[in-house]
Order: sequence, then C-alpha cells, then structure tokens
Amino acid sequence: MLFTRISICLCLSSLALGAPSSKRSTERPHRCVIPSSNGTANDSPAVAQAFAKCASDSVIVFQDGVDYNIFTPIAATNLSNVEIKMSGNLHLPQKYYRDGSYWFKLKGPNIDYTGSANVNHGWINSYGQAWWDANPVNGTGIDSRPHLMSFQTTDGSLKYFKSRKPIAWNVQLQGDNITVSHAFIDAESTGSFPFNTDGFDVTATNVHISDSVIYNGDDAIAVQSGSHNVVFERNTIGYQSHGMSIGSLGQTQSEFANVSNIHFEDVTVIDAVYGSRFKSWMGGQGIAKNITWKNIRVYNVTFPIFVTQSYTNQGSSQTQLGNGVTSGRVNNASVMMEDFVWSDFTGTVNSWRPGDGSCVTDPCWYDVGLPDLKHTEAVIIECNTNSSCKNFELKNIEIIPQTMAEPTVVCINATATLNPDLGFDCRNGTFSPN
Ligand SMILES: *[C@@H]1O[C@H](CO)[C@@H](O)[C@H](O)[C@H]1NC(C)=O
Ligand SMILES: *[C@@H]1O[C@H](CO)[C@@H](O)[C@H](O)[C@H]1NC(C)=O
Ligand SMILES: *[C@@H]1O[C@H](CO)[C@@H](O)[C@H](O)[C@H]1NC(C)=O
Ligand SMILES: *[C@@H]1O[C@H](CO)[C@@H](O)[C@H](O)[C@H]1NC(C)=O
Ligand SMILES: *[C@@H]1O[C@H](CO)[C@@H](O)[C@H](O)[C@H]1NC(C)=O
Ligand SMILES: *[C@@H]1O[C@H](CO)[C@@H](O)[C@H](O)[C@H]1NC(C)=O
Ligand SMILES: *[C@@H]1O[C@H](CO)[C@@H](O)[C@H](O)[C@H]1NC(C)=O
Ligand SMILES: *[C@@H]1O[C@H](CO)[C@@H](O)[C@H](O)[C@H]1NC(C)=O
Ligand SMILES: *[C@@H]1O[C@H](CO)[C@@H](O)[C@H](O)[C@H]1NC(C)=O
Ligand SMILES: *[C@@H]1O[C@H](CO)[C@@H](O)[C@H](O)[C@H]1NC(C)=O
Ligand SMILES: *[C@@H]1O[C@H](CO)[C@@H](O)[C@H](O)[C@H]1NC(C)=O
Repeated sequence: MLFTRISICLCLSSLALGAPSSKRSTERPHRCVIPSSNGTANDSPAVAQAFAKCASDSVIVFQDGVDYNIFTPIAATNLSNVEIKMSGNLHLPQKYYRDGSYWFKLKGPNIDYTGSANVNHGWINSYGQAWWDANPVNGTGIDSRPHLMSFQTTDGSLKYFKSRKPIAWNVQLQGDNITVSHAFIDAESTGSFPFNTDGFDVTATNVHISDSVIYNGDDAIAVQSGSHNVVFERNTIGYQSHGMSIGSLGQTQSEFANVSNIHFEDVTVIDAVYGSRFKSWMGGQGIAKNITWKNIRVYNVTFPIFVTQSYTNQGSSQTQLGNGVTSGRVNNASVMMEDFVWSDFTGTVNSWRPGDGSCVTDPCWYDVGLPDLKHTEAVIIECNTNSSCKNFELKNIEIIPQTMAEPTVVCINATATLNPDLGFDCRNGTFSPN
C-alpha cells in the first residue's frame, strides 16, 4: 500500500520495546501527529492522510489546543485498534451549505476517541447557528444537513467528546461494547430552534453512557431498534431536550423492532419537553422489554413520564407513515412493552411555558392526540391495546406542577390485570399513587 513505508517509519520512531503479542494486537505502536495550517487552509486532506497512514494499531493526534479546519468530510472506515487523541479544536465551515453525509465516519474494531480534560480543548465547532437560522418559518430544519459523527466500533470508547453548536444529529453509535463518558454537547441557540440536534442515537449493544452534559434541541439519547444492554447514568440533560427516549420503534410495519435491558439512572433533566419517553408507531411490531428510568430529577419539564404506543403521523412530511404515505396506516399490531419501571422521580412539571420552539404546527406535534392537556400531567401512558402493556411499575413519583395544582395523569389501556404493580389507577384525572 502507498503509505506502508511511511507508517513503518512512524512506527519505529515510537515503538515501545515491549514483549510482542501473539493474539489480536492491543498495542498501538504507530503514531501520526496531524499538522495544522493554523486556520489558513482546509486541514481535511492532512487529517484524511493521517487516518490512512495510521489506520491500524495506531495513535492519531490532533495536537493540544491547535485549531484544525475540517472543511470536507472525513471517512475513516477501515480503522482497527486506533486511538484518536482529540486535543485540538476542530472547525467545520462557518457558512451554511448542503451536504447530507456524516462529517466524521469512524468505523472498525477498537476505536478509542479520547478528547481533552481541558475544558477549552477538544471541541468540535460545527457553527450550527447559521443552519438553524436558515430554517424557514415553521420548517423542521433545512434539507441535507450532515450528521456530525457515525461511531461504529466494537470494544471502543468516546471520552470527553465535545460538540459546540452541532448542525444536527451528533453521534450515531453502532456496534458492541462502547463506553461514552464526559461528553459535552452544547446546542444552545441565540436565534432559531436547533432542530434534530440529537445527542446520542444508539443502535448498538452493551453501551454505557455516563457523566455527560447534553444541552440540545431533540433527544439527549434515542435508543433505537436492535439495541440491547444500554446504561445511561449520571448525566445532565436539558435546554430544549426531548429527553431520554426509546424509539421511535415500529415505523416499518413489516419489520420487528426489538430493544431490551435499557437502564437510565441518576439523571437531571432541565427545561425539557420530555424526561423519560417511549414512542412506538401504531401498527408496528416487536418487543421492548426490561426498561427502567430511576432517580430522575426533572425541573420545568413538560412531559416528565411519557409513553405512546399509538404514534402516527405528526403532520410533517418528515414524519409520514411510510414512504409517501400520510394516512390510512392499518392498526393491526403493537410494539409490545414488558417490564417497565419508573422509580424515584422528583421535580416540577412545566405548567407556565410548556413545550418548546419545535412547535411549528397546530396542534404542536407533541400535543397530537392529547386534546385536553392541563400541563399538570406528571404521567402520560397511552397503550395501543388492552394487552400491549405488561408489568409496568411506577413508584416514588413526586412530581408537582409549577402551578401547585394537583399532579394529573392521562392513562389508557395499562390494565390492572396485566399491570398489578402499576402504582395508581389507569384512568385520566388526579395522579394518586396507591
Ligand atoms: C502553526 O503555528 C504554530 C505555533 O505558532 C507553529 O509552531 C506551527 O509551525 C504552525 N504550523 C503551520 C503549518 O504553519
Ligand atoms: C483495510 O485495512 C486492511 C489492513 O488493516 C487492509 O488489508 C485492507 O486492504 C484495507 N482496505 C481498504 C479498502 O483500504
Ligand atoms: C469491552 O471493551 C473494553 C475496551 O474498551 C475491553 O477492555 C473489555 O474487555 C470489553 N468487554 C468485553 C465483554 O468484551
Ligand atoms: C400490518 O399491516 C401491514 C401493512 O399491510 C403489514 O406490512 C404488516 O405485516 C401487518 N402486521 C401484522 C402483524 O400482521
Ligand atoms: C424480536 O423479538 C421477537 C419476539 O421475541 C422475535 O420473534 C424476533 O425474532 C425478534 N426480532 C429481531 C430482529 O430481533
Ligand atoms: C435488565 O436490564 C438491566 C440493564 O441493562 C440489566 O442489568 C438486568 O440484568 C436486566 N434484567 C434482566 C432480568 O434481564
Ligand atoms: C421552562 O422551560 C421553558 C421551555 O424550555 C422555558 O421557555 C422557560 O423559560 C422555563 N421556565 C423556567 C422557570 O425556567
Ligand atoms: C406557523 O405555524 C403557526 C402554528 O401553526 C401558525 O400560526 C403560523 O401562521 C405559521 N406561520 C407561517 C408563516 O406559516
Ligand atoms: C383520557 O385522555 C385522553 C387524552 O386526552 C383521551 O384521548 C381519552 O379519551 C381520555 N379517556 C377517557 C376515558 O376520558
Ligand atoms: C384500548 O384497547 C382497546 C382494546 O384492545 C382498543 O380497542 C382501544 O382502541 C384502545 N384505546 C385507545 C384509546 O387506544
Ligand atoms: C380487551 O379488549 C377486548 C376488545 O378488544 C375485550 O374483549 C376484552 O374484554 C378487553 N380485556 C380487558 C381485560 O379489558
């Protein structure tokens, strides 16, 4: 290969004199330090070259505090056992443009992305404000926005991932055994709503996300079909967040959507539309099992506990029922829910200024199917049939409306027969735990 010679040279310059390993290499003898143009040019070619040279058993270094212009996308999809030391500050183009790709596509076994513990270093600056502000009135985000990063690995990690003003979706996690810690995502806007700035979209198994801060304008975490064994703990999420979500599941009616063993614990939720949320499509199929939200502190949250199994079109072309279909979806199945626990919630319901800037339809997408909201609802549970929700358990739910009115509940079809430990009577009205 073209770079073999160079990579051997790099290798020799920093080769540790350790014992050679016979099994899969865990050592990273190669090292590529990425040069920077210091803001005078596009550094993407130099970055791409480093990823090609140091594609395996390597450490790739973005130098401490150094600025890099990443004006074109980076695809490093043939990595193996690589550490990316992200100590520099990256800058995407400052103007709004169109490109529907992933800006960073990282793929391969054993990828460790290690940011900087220094709060000023290791940031990816995407300049999303220009994109948010270019969104037309009542638009839901302009077309062809790039996702920031696809991180597809096994036995890998993301530490100190820092993202400022992401254009839209931050990180898509795919694969197995991935640890995320100390992430900081900040999508606070000084203008228009930061649509679809999801924190972590998960389609992976054995994932652990902790000790992170996610301020954004969509799901902090969205656990999607095919995800199993996911823990999300000790995090702070907020701003215009759409919370800790499972789903949406079952949009494609002919496919099974399964998720299991998902645990959210010790999370503070500030000013969000949702705290804990489950969303599956009417007429979808599959199973969601063993899912817990525990020790959740909500402050000024519109829907602290929310479940719908009867999700349908929200009116936008982006949330249509299927490709080109906007009505007539057949309600012939449900994504079954089993063994769900919500425990130890404290805090306040947003009664004074419910919702957020993503309300661009009438009714708001988040109010569809809920005609009589009082914004005193601590709990909303909508099951698609009287047998599609099983073993739900709510305990120690101390959530009060800002108005100091009694907390209320909307509850449909979580039957006492299948949900003996529900903790309250499943009907609309005052929330009175039993
Ligand atoms: C960038 O600036 C640093 C510090 O001033 C300097 O050491 C380095 O050589 C510069 N790099 C380039 C490519 O000009
Ligand atoms: C991917 O990397 C392996 C070695 O790690 C190499 O054999 C293969 O040719 C590379 N494939 C591409 C498409 O670069
Ligand atoms: C998960 O990945 C880590 C490296 O990030 C590794 O140390 C650990 O052994 C892996 N766990 C399993 C069960 O493979
Ligand atoms: C429900 O109907 C859709 C559309 O006809 C079909 O694709 C799906 O397989 C059906 N689901 C079940 C469980 O029969
Ligand atoms: C989803 O779960 C169902 C019920 O356990 C099972 O029949 C189906 O094979 C699973 N599908 C996938 C894709 O995991
Ligand atoms: C439920 O999920 C949690 C979190 O992933 C896991 O620790 C626990 O073992 C699971 N319980 C069962 C019965 O599978
Ligand atoms: C509550 O959250 C909403 C929506 O984010 C915000 O407009 C409002 O200012 C917040 N109120 C308080 C008291 O923090
Ligand atoms: C935007 O949507 C709101 C709510 O539906 C509506 O009142 C307003 O007229 C719309 N504005 C435009 C420019 O379409
Ligand atoms: C409970 O409230 C929901 C949402 O407003 C409504 O669709 C449903 O009909 C109500 N149920 C009863 C029995 O009034
Ligand atoms: C409740 O379940 C019944 C029976 O499964 C179903 O016919 C009905 O549509 C469900 N109610 C709502 C409001 O979804
Ligand atoms: C569930 O709904 C069906 C009608 O769809 C009804 O025959 C049945 O009695 C209901 N079961 C319970 C426990 O409410």
